[in-house]
Amino acid sequence: MAKTYNIALMPGDGTGPEVLDEGVKVVQAASEREGFSLELTHYDFGGERYKRTGEILPDSALEEFRQMDAIYLGAIGHPDVKPGILEKGILLKARFALDQYINLRPVKLYPGVETPLKDKGPEEIDFVVVRENTEGLYCGAGGFLKKGTPDEVAVQESINTRKGAERCLRYAFEYCRKRNQEKTLTLCGKTNVLTFAFDLWERTFEELAKEYTDIKTDYAHVDATCMWMVKNPEWFDVIVTDNMFGDIITDLGAMIQGGMGVAAGGNINPEGTSMFEPIGGSAPKYTGQNVINPVAAICAGQMMLEHLGEESGARRVEAAVMKTISRDMKSLSAGKMGHGTREIGDLVAGYVRQG
Ligand code: IPM
Ligand code: MN
Repeated sequence: MAKTYNIALMPGDGTGPEVLDEGVKVVQAASEREGFSLELTHYDFGGERYKRTGEILPDSALEEFRQMDAIYLGAIGHPDVKPGILEKGILLKARFALDQYINLRPVKLYPGVETPLKDKGPEEIDFVVVRENTEGLYCGAGGFLKKGTPDEVAVQESINTRKGAERCLRYAFEYCRKRNQEKTLTLCGKTNVLTFAFDLWERTFEELAKEYTDIKTDYAHVDATCMWMVKNPEWFDVIVTDNMFGDIITDLGAMIQGGMGVAAGGNINPEGTSMFEPIGGSAPKYTGQNVINPVAAICAGQMMLEHLGEESGARRVEAAVMKTISRDMKSLSAGKMGHGTREIGDLVAGYVRQG
């Protein structure tokens, strides 16, 4: 019998719904081609619902998400809602509550895509960042003392647990082992200053390295990692790092792979429900104009298929994205693609059907 996957769709804010529509169009095309089916359930959490009802992301929705095979997200962030409310209340809440302890972010330059890096091409820019996704500075630990007075103190602590670092590092070693022949895992940290947090990370990394003797290991401070990502991105195969550093270096990664229009990520709980998203945000100023680039959302859909075990479908989607980029798209920037959002979705879905 054909397999059916239960997918929660969370289009969210701004251009989120537009790009997610195209992502769904493409994964549907892949499902028809491969003979599996998708049972889609819509959730309208985001700025509009919050403004209307005050509801952000109720526990009952999280309970439903736990029963799903995956969550497919558009974007979170509304211009009329104070920054932080929706991001923390929806995105971070889902990541934490569903224990999506990995944020997997490929940095891959497709042929025909312009990168700001001189003399670098698809050969050089092809690595993956494994970002820890449930600890570090994102825990919300800390607080104020004497807030609003001249003696004010603000403390924001980075929480690093042995268990949290170990499961993230283990995932990175395993991922590195199956990714390609390079088999190089770089720990990105700051052992020269953050001598507690990254001491724990480094010791755990070195211990695990003894189990994974087929993997070459390397270490780079986060500042140097930024430098090498620009100067010699070909040095990287898989980078593993903490939550905050992972957030920062993956925006740099998105830029060198051609911009936010192509950057996708997966919030992964290998034992639970994972959530896939374009990482570019809601880009509210482009809402409803059919100009935003849906490729990142489509690539998030590809990652979702791969995660579900539909590897052949995922490969079809990637091949179709590459075809669309090299044959049909003038640029990856909003409004300059040479086609509208929906037309790009149609082109990719068409190639998936033909391929
Ligand atoms: C990301 C985003 C989020 C993060 C924000 C919106 C909370 O920047 O997914 O990278 O910091 O993780
Ligand atoms: Mn970010």
